[in-house]
Amino acid sequence: MIFVLFIHLKLTKPTCAIGFQLTRYIEACGITLMKLKKWNVCVSRRILDPAISMISKECSVIVANHGGNRPATRSELLKTVHDKDAILCTLSDKIDAKVMDAAGPKLKVISSYSTGVDHIDTKEATKRGIYVTSTGDILTESTADIAFALILATSRRIIQGHELVTHKHWKYGWDPHLLLGSDVHNTTIGILGLGRIGSAVARRAKGFDMNIIYHNLHSRNILMEEQVRTKHVNMDELVRESDFLSLHCSLNNKSYHLINKENLTKMKKSAYIINTARGQIINEVHLIKALKQRWIAGAGLDVFEKEPLSPDNPLLKMKNVVVLLPHIGSATFLTRTKMAEVAAKNLLNVLNRKSAIYFANPEVINIRNNT
Ligand code: DGY
Repeated sequence: MIFVLFIHLKLTKPTCAIGFQLTRYIEACGITLMKLKKWNVCVSRRILDPAISMISKECSVIVANHGGNRPATRSELLKTVHDKDAILCTLSDKIDAKVMDAAGPKLKVISSYSTGVDHIDTKEATKRGIYVTSTGDILTESTADIAFALILATSRRIIQGHELVTHKHWKYGWDPHLLLGSDVHNTTIGILGLGRIGSAVARRAKGFDMNIIYHNLHSRNILMEEQVRTKHVNMDELVRESDFLSLHCSLNNKSYHLINKENLTKMKKSAYIINTARGQIINEVHLIKALKQRWIAGAGLDVFEKEPLSPDNPLLKMKNVVVLLPHIGSATFLTRTKMAEVAAKNLLNVLNRKSAIYFANPEVINIRNNT
């Protein structure tokens, strides 16, 4: 009733002193009512609709970065998470024990607007009985599309062709020697990590009549071996035989800097490396050396050890052998919107004691049941 009166008074804008006082009073009540929302949530930065509107229906929401496109600073994050029931973060936010301490004992869920959760100390969260959720396979097909775009762009010199034309350097029309590249069809693609995205890339590769080999750091993917007729090989064979080595494993202790000098020197001189997973899977210093010394032909990279690239990163001067993208694997309107919906649902479901759509640490249920 008070709330209806509040809305009414707001709409009619009372001008007399009593009305004004009453409005102030009820506004105060209005704020109290908002505070009575069941949960308090920290969203690290604005993401696509409908995430915040969905969460706001049930929770009080505070955005940590005070608007704009930049990620929240560490201090904004540490301050804003205080006393929150849930955090909605992105992969730019390092969510470690310090952030969990700053949030305090009410924290029940960290919902990431991402599929990779390597920016979250999931072990620490599990220990504390905090759920970590992700956007699972929502971005699978979009990321596979970008991997394939990089395969084509590097080998067929798409960016150089575009620049030649737009910079008005295309002088003689058709030219027998102009921008010769390498074929994609009938070559061998090596997939490191035949999980969801790796499998989606394998399906695309099949359409290009590519020979598909893969290596998984954990278990084999028998289903995909049958579906796309791919062969599991050891790491050594993978790097030696691939014309395109496409990385799709998650970042962890096993995969960190897995692509290093040792593996790069084994690759074919004509091979390309494609990375749409995480930058830290490649030792970037070794990759730069490999490109400079022509151990391999080129690289198509959507992710880097440090994002954004620092202006003095040598990769920026290697335009002839690299195609560089700003971590846009999942960046389509539809995928990012679906990711927003899933991130919000994950968060709300956990708060409402229901199952999230994608848990990164489902084992938390045992910890919670035992306390
Ligand atoms: C993810 O979600 O892990 C991607 O890298 C970015 O969308």
